[in-house]
This record gives sequence, structure tokens and C-alpha cells, in this order.
Amino acid sequence: MEYLELAVQLAREAGDILKHYASREKHVEFKGRANLVTIADKESEALIIGGIQKHFPDHAILAEESGATESRPDATVRWIIDPLDGTTNFAHQYPFYCVSIGVEVNGVVTAGAVYDPTRDEMFSAARGAGAFMNSDPLRVSEIQSLSHALLLTGFPYDFRDRIELAVGHFRAFLMESQAVRRGGSAALDLCHMAAGRCDGFWEMKLQPWDTAAGSVIAEESGACITDFSGGPFSIYRKEILASNGHIHGEMASVLQSVGF
Ligand code: IPD
Ligand code: CA
Ligand code: CA
Repeated sequence: MEYLELAVQLAREAGDILKHYASREKHVEFKGRANLVTIADKESEALIIGGIQKHFPDHAILAEESGATESRPDATVRWIIDPLDGTTNFAHQYPFYCVSIGVEVNGVVTAGAVYDPTRDEMFSAARGAGAFMNSDPLRVSEIQSLSHALLLTGFPYDFRDRIELAVGHFRAFLMESQAVRRGGSAALDLCHMAAGRCDGFWEMKLQPWDTAAGSVIAEESGACITDFSGGPFSIYRKEILASNGHIHGEMASVLQSVGF
């Protein structure tokens, strides 16, 4: 079985688990003041890990709730999983959350699937083969200037420690763009940008499982992704600046003017 095919299949099955729990009472545990984990996170992750281990027992896994599998120095393939991106939304029955599964081969994310069970939208991409929402090809927007752009962002759970900086970026983009939204799922933010439904996205302190799948989907749709300085992006770096390409320079200048 192809990696992307399995990622898509497991994302859909895990999405069915989220759907099952969506309207039920949530038993929420707190990893931090605002960082939640529910039974849906755990069951979704167990299903995905079980599916990968059944088909590819030698592959390494990095999953949000259970961490990295015991080190496999020979493994060239690593699956990077967020079993529920947008847990706070999910816990409140706000319908903006997803399952995210990325596949990294020799350090490069080569395939990704992000499934939104609330809209039945499966975003997927294999590097070099384009990106799709269900069977429709994806393309970033053609918006040419920041003043006409709709932007997305998010805040890390510990934003209270860096409130001035987080609000400084938000304020500056609010002033310079058409509008800014904070959806609550970084993986879906990247996919909506890939689909041309918004034009740019920035966030500090994300984790590899937040961006692995979404970044390959966005890049295969024509997005430009860098760090805040315009340097190369890595899912292991904390900051991400993603856009349709046309407004990238303007977005980087705004971040530069505020600092980071
Ligand atoms: C969070 C979401 C959110 C982002 C946070 C992430 P989680 O992931 O992606 O949009 O702002 O930084 O931690 O905890 O819902 O999987
Ligand atoms: Ca996440
Ligand atoms: Ca999560």
C-alpha cells in the first residue's frame, strides 16, 4: 500500500472516531492551563498508530499524545501524527478540527492527509504530484496585496508568557490586511490556504504534528512557506509564515517591523 493511500484511509477512520465523540459529553484532561486532551484524541491516535504498525512495522512514528516510538535508527520513514488538531474547538463542539497525518522520508515530508470530519473534506498531497480536496485539485489564491488579503493565525497555549509579542503581530496584521481570523486548527489553516480560501497564515511555537501534513499540502498547492525571516521552513522550527507567494514579502516585512 502507498504511504499516501494509507494516510488518507487512517485519517478518515480516525475522523469517524472524532465524529462519534463530537456530540457526546467530553471527559477532558488538562496537559496545561488551556491544553486539553480527550478520549477522542487518544482513540484516534491509537487507531492511526495501529494501522501504521500493521502495514509498516519498521517505520518510526511521532505522535502528539504518545511521543516518538522507541528509536529506530534504521528507519528512513517517519509518520507524524496529530490525532485531533483543534482539541479546544472539539471540546466546545465548535466545528473546526481535523486529523493530520504526515509521512517524512529521509527528513523530508513527502505526503500528508488532513481530514475535516465536520465538512467531510479530505485534503491530501504527495510531493511532486499536486494537492487535492477530496478529488478536486487545490491551488492557492491569486490575491496580490496584503491590503486585500484574508489572513489566519493562531496562538500557542502559553501565549500569556509572550502576550505583547503575540498581540503585536496580530495588531500589525489587522491594520495592514483586509481581515484576520483565528480558527483554532493550524493544520486546517494551512489546508484552507492551500484551497485559496485565505491568503496567508503565520503562527509561533507550533509542533511538527501541527504542520507536517498541512505544509506539504500547502506547498503542493503553490504556497510559499518560510520562517518569520523568510528563511527555510522546517516542521521542527517553531515559527511558520505561509502565503500564496504574492503577499509573502509584505507579510515578512510586517513581522520584521514588530520583531519576533
Ligand atoms: C493547536 C491548534 C491551534 C494552534 C495551537 C496548537 P491542538 O493544536 O493547531 O490552532 O494555535 O498552537 O497547539 O492542541 O488542538 O492539537
Ligand atoms: Ca495540534
Ligand atoms: Ca492535537
